[in-house]
Amino acid sequence: MSTRRNFLKQTGAVLGYGSLFQAGIPLFAQNTPANPSFSPSTYMGAASLAARAARTRLPYGCAVVPEMLNVEMDYTRTIIEQCSILVAENSMKWAAIHPQPNTFNFAGADKLLAFAGEHKMQLRGHNLCWHQALPSWFTKTMNRGNAKAMLVQHIQTVAGRYAGKLHSWDVVNEAIHVQDGRPDGLRKSPWLELIGEEYIDIAFHTARQADPHALLTYNDYGIEYDVPHDDQKRAAVLSLLRRMRKRKTPIDAVGVQSHLRAGTQDTIGDGLEHFLQEVRKLDLQVFITEMDVDDSHLTGDADQREAAVAAVYKQYFDLMLRDSQVTAALTWGITNRYTWLNHEHPRKNGDYQVPLPFDSNYQPAKAFFALGEAFGRRKVQSAAPVLTAKVNDAQAI
Ligand code: XIL
Repeated sequence: MSTRRNFLKQTGAVLGYGSLFQAGIPLFAQNTPANPSFSPSTYMGAASLAARAARTRLPYGCAVVPEMLNVEMDYTRTIIEQCSILVAENSMKWAAIHPQPNTFNFAGADKLLAFAGEHKMQLRGHNLCWHQALPSWFTKTMNRGNAKAMLVQHIQTVAGRYAGKLHSWDVVNEAIHVQDGRPDGLRKSPWLELIGEEYIDIAFHTARQADPHALLTYNDYGIEYDVPHDDQKRAAVLSLLRRMRKRKTPIDAVGVQSHLRAGTQDTIGDGLEHFLQEVRKLDLQVFITEMDVDDSHLTGDADQREAAVAAVYKQYFDLMLRDSQVTAALTWGITNRYTWLNHEHPRKNGDYQVPLPFDSNYQPAKAFFALGEAFGRRKVQSAAPVLTAKVNDAQAI
């Protein structure tokens, strides 16, 4: 496929849902009434997920829709009760925060930052450079002549605004796509087409300069399973990370998205463990950034599917939490009432997915207990993880 067609395909694919999520309205909210007798502190005694994770010095939290905070109160209370770290599900992506070439919209991100501050939670930034969620002006405006400057300006403006206030930034998201057939595994994204591999370094250097305190993260999916695709992807991600280290690109962490699935034969084990070892050699932290479990391969009622989903949580977190370099854990949402899987990976029979720790009535689901128990089994970490980046490696581009 020609470069140009690829470019259009990748960007075009994104524009379809852009305006929907910009409105901040979850597309597939379930219609069941919220539970009036909500009292999360009675689950597991008083130990929320955040409290259980904190025992091992791990922040736990989830992706949120800022527009729903202080509006949907059960949602808000669950998040306050359970989380010590948050991330915007969509509000900090280009399409939301940079709606016109010269206009930024910080409403959602600012609201989220204020909320996190008020409740003493940390906030992750997601994301500064991705092939999806690009605004509609992107294809019309961007060309090889201006792309670098636009990328730098975007990162300076967005990361600069929140400088010193964020736990970390997903600087580059999903830059590897082995299916695109390049020997280096790089995704043929608009950024690669317009700038070349250098876009990755430009993004990280600019982010470091704009916010020397945020931990700078490379974030990706499809690196968890012992299947040939994930083997190839892990190899390509590691090779990218090694190249970045060699070039002294400022990077502190790898985000393992952790969009997992229940009900397939695929297993998680050696491949991921080897990946973690190699990441450790590169002296990078690891964040679980977007955990959820897709149950669309399962039959069975919600209860049975919840049990299978919880088993995935248990196995996955036991494996990941053995590693002291894993220093943050977030799920991609907190309640099954609002999950992107219902619109982007819907179950064929129309049943709602059960990927998250709370059910659609804000009651703890089986995954909640699996997660809390996995936090409980983690060895208490002796040294506090490094929570801010090393300031002295900020470098000029
Ligand atoms: C998803 C959001 O959850 C959806 O609401 C949106 O329509 C598309 O993006 N990997 C990522 C996230 O890095 O940003 C994606 O979030 C899920 C996959």
